[in-house]
Parts: sequence; C-alpha cells; structure tokens
Amino acid sequence: MAITRRELIKTSLPVLAGVSIGGLSVGCGGATMPRTAVTHGPLEGLAMGATRLEAYDVFLVRTEEGVAAISGQCTHAGCGVAPRGEGFHCGCHGSEFTLDGTVTRGPASEPLPWFAVRIEGGDVVVDPSQTVPQGTYTPIE
Ligand code: FES
Repeated sequence: MAITRRELIKTSLPVLAGVSIGGLSVGCGGATMPRTAVTHGPLEGLAMGATRLEAYDVFLVRTEEGVAAISGQCTHAGCGVAPRGEGFHCGCHGSEFTLDGTVTRGPASEPLPWFAVRIEGGDVVVDPSQTVPQGTYTPIE
C-alpha cells in the first residue's frame, strides 16, 4: 500500500514538532515519554545495568543500590539516547551521559531526569509524571 505525500506529512509533522499524541510526548528526534505510570514487569527478571522501558525513551537502571528510572530523552534537543559503554549516548549531536544521567560531553548541559519508581506486586512501575532527585534508587528488598 502506497502512502501519499499528504499522509506522510500529516503523520510526520507531530513527531518533527515535538508534540503530545495520545498520552505520549514526542521529542525532536522521536523520543517518546509516557505521561502516566507504566508497568515494566517483574523486578525478578530485570538485569543489572540499563534496560529500556519497552516502547519508551526511559531506562530502568538496576544497581547494587536498587532500581531507578532515567529519562532517555536528551536534554539538549530531545532526541532519544541509547546505552553505550557505561552510560548513554545521543546520536543527534554527540552528547554523552553516565549511567546516572550526568553529562560527560555536550552540547547537552543538564543531566537526564530521574523518575519515580515503585515496586507493586513484584512488578517495576515507573511514573514519568514525577521526577525525583538524581540518585534516588528504590531499594530492592
Ligand atoms: S539532542 Fe542530544 S546532543 Fe543534541
């Protein structure tokens, strides 16, 4: 099925403009953020290090301190970052972040925000509508 130029522009503009569609905010590079709490799944299966929250630019980070949720939306211009080495890399303009979201290379100048995490019935739940201070891990009991 061919897509017309009009259909392509209609579906692409909101993504390029960085607007909200159906509960998602979409950044300039296509980064997506849920607006309400999202259940990732069982804490038991969450690996150490960074794991992408499926379908979103949010990373669950599990360390010895517990579990945290860190935005995967670059603080420079909103592109999605990707895990690289011991942290995150933004492919749009080359910013680098540590695993806790601290900027180690610009042009980004602000750290990646942290979001509230809770454990409900053994599942990891992330609430991107609530930011928390960097370093706020939810303990794993
Ligand atoms: S949007 Fe990430 S470095 Fe520019």
